[in-house]
Amino acid sequence: MITFRDISKSFDGGQSFAVQRLSLEVPDGETLVLLGSSGSGKTTLLKMVNGLVQPTSGTVHVDSQETTQADPVALRRSLGYVFQGIGLFPHLTVEQNVGIVPRLQGLPASEQHRRAHETLELVGLPTSVYGERFPDELSGGQQQRVGVARALAAEPAHLLMDEPFGALDAVTRDELQHELLSLKKRLHKTILFVTHDVFEAVRLGDRIAVLHEGRLEQVGAPQDVLRRPATPYVEQLVGRIREQLRVIADVLT
Ligand SMILES: Nc1ncnc2c1ncn2[C@@H]1O[C@H](COP(=O)(O)OP(=O)(O)O)[C@@H](O)[C@H]1O
Ligand SMILES: [Mg+2]
Repeated sequence: MITFRDISKSFDGGQSFAVQRLSLEVPDGETLVLLGSSGSGKTTLLKMVNGLVQPTSGTVHVDSQETTQADPVALRRSLGYVFQGIGLFPHLTVEQNVGIVPRLQGLPASEQHRRAHETLELVGLPTSVYGERFPDELSGGQQQRVGVARALAAEPAHLLMDEPFGALDAVTRDELQHELLSLKKRLHKTILFVTHDVFEAVRLGDRIAVLHEGRLEQVGAPQDVLRRPATPYVEQLVGRIREQLRVIADVLT
């Protein structure tokens, strides 16, 4: 369980807030999508979960441990992080990229290999074919799968995913969304997934939390957010989606 209690973050001594007075509970096994446009505070919020950013006020708990009290290394190990952009090490092979966390954990080589093998298999990249390749020898979609495998290789309790599919073309994004849905059924992990794409949010989220200018506008199941927008901002967001769907419906009829 990940719990935000009245959390705020200012980078400029309180003149402006990247995240403002946000409270939210993410129960175990839930996929919660943080939906908001660029600059709404999504990345800042994720980084306050794994301790890369310290809150200005309020608290974040990961499994009843307050994050500022936690051992930073142990905290990060309990959280798989898939970065915005791809973020693989270009000079390491696919297997080395995935094995890096188990290696840093000091696990024996056989265990590093087993975890790399298993998680790469899980994301559809068998080590026998892809293990020895370098990131620039993979497509964008494959590189992003390696990023997911790397996050899973630490066997984290929870996964933080920051716009993991944002840089991919629409077809590849669609494939990876589909894969994540089947992966989440098998893994039963808590996933905090960041996106600015409403369709992605609706497809992947058990619940959606809409962020705007650092504030939580609404949180609820996708159908609740779409059918009963709670604020003018969410209303506007849903209105734009309706408009897009109308354009497509007009073309199809
Ligand atoms: N390290 C930082 N120093 C100063 N300002 C920052 C820093 N990180 C983020 N911000 C600011 O905080 C706000 C939210 O940013 P961010 O969390 O990255 O938004 P998002 O991920 O939703 O695009 C933005 O106004 C951004 O400029
Ligand atoms: Mg961001």
